This record gives sequence, structure tokens and C-alpha cells, in this order.
Amino acid sequence: MKFFIDSANLDEIKDLANQGIVDGVTTNPTLIAKEIKRTGKKMEEIIKEISIIVKGPISAEVLSNEYQGMIDEAVKLSKISKNIVVKIPMTQTGLMVVRSLKEMSIDTNVTLAFTPIQAVLAAKAGATYVSPFIGRIDDISNDGMKIIESIMKIFKNYGYDTKVIVASVRNPVHILKSLEYGADIATIPYNVFTQLIKHPLTDLGIKKFMEDYEKSKN
Ligand code: E4P
Repeated sequence: MKFFIDSANLDEIKDLANQGIVDGVTTNPTLIAKEIKRTGKKMEEIIKEISIIVKGPISAEVLSNEYQGMIDEAVKLSKISKNIVVKIPMTQTGLMVVRSLKEMSIDTNVTLAFTPIQAVLAAKAGATYVSPFIGRIDDISNDGMKIIESIMKIFKNYGYDTKVIVASVRNPVHILKSLEYGADIATIPYNVFTQLIKHPLTDLGIKKFMEDYEKSKN
């Protein structure tokens, strides 16, 4: 499974990229807005910088919700760098846009999918990636990971080659389950990435080893 970082924060992306554990990046308008506010940089500038830091796929989302607007934005975004994937919302018009962008050889990531059927529709439209938002399903007292289990089963049954990005990740258990269900990618916020690395017993173990070694000097 590939690990993407779900962030537009250039410092967070650089930090994890330096550790060699980031295969790609996903952004969305909320994350981009935060980075514009933090750095004063323009959206295009932020996306360009991300695409230089990480060589894998970088998802950047359109802001328009009508056909021509989405196509124009997608073309513009795809010119920022070779590794840009255009994020398109899961709507009827969005699916038409995905079909057209496939014909133009522009990679797409269908975002805001909440059901297995929506994921199938994205695959049938020719999306490169589909992003089911599992944390937001948990937030309304349902089990988001069940959607991933179901999508992976359906995609295997019918041989859809659209890659599944587990999105809206909230905790390490989401990652463990994504691995168990065979998801292609999980896109992970910075704070969850750091939780994946750390374990209190690892820290205690390091401390104890050091203390024991120091005792040998007495
Ligand atoms: C995915 O591509 C989205 O950017 C993201 O995972 C949304 O997560 P949220 O529900 O935490 O906003």
C-alpha cells in the first residue's frame, strides 16, 4: 500500500519526504486555503513546490462545479507539473469531466465518494483514483472502513483498475484496516503519520537500553 500525505503544508510535506515515507500527496481547497494563509503564497505556487518536493502523484482540486470550468481548471493544474492529478468532485458533471480528461490523458482523482456504488461509477467513468472519505462516515456514527472492504471486494470481482485512496483518515486503526483490506493507497494527515511511527514501548525501550549501558561504566 502506498502512503500519501493529506496536506498542503510545505513544512509537513518536506519533513515526511525527508524521512522517505511519502509516495504522493493529496490536497483539497481547505488544506490549500490554510497554506495560503500560513505562507502568503498563491495556490499554483504551493502546488508547484509540493510537486518538486514529492515526485509521486500530487492531487490538486478544481474549484468550479460546472463542466467547462472544471475542464479549464484541470488543464491549467495539469500544466503545473507532470505529476499532477486533478481532483474532481463525485457529481454527475464531475463524472463527465473525468471521462473527457481521460481522453485528454489527464489523471483524475474522484473525491468526496461515500458509497461503494459511487466508487464503481468513478471507475466506470475512467478515474485514475477514487477517494472514499471514511473519517467523515465515522463522524456520523457509521463504520467508514466497511465501505473500503466492500469497494476492494467489488473492484476485484470486476477487475476495475481505478486505484482506491482511503481518505479522511483519522487514526492508525484506519491505516491498519486499509492494509488488511488491500487498499491501494491511504492518504494520511501529518498528525496520524507521526502516531504511526511512535510507540510508548519503543521510547521506554530506548531509555532502558541507554540506562543499562550507562550502568556498565560504574
Ligand atoms: C482527501 O483527499 C481529503 O483531502 C481528505 O482526506 C479529507 O479529510 P477530512 O475529512 O479530514 O477533511
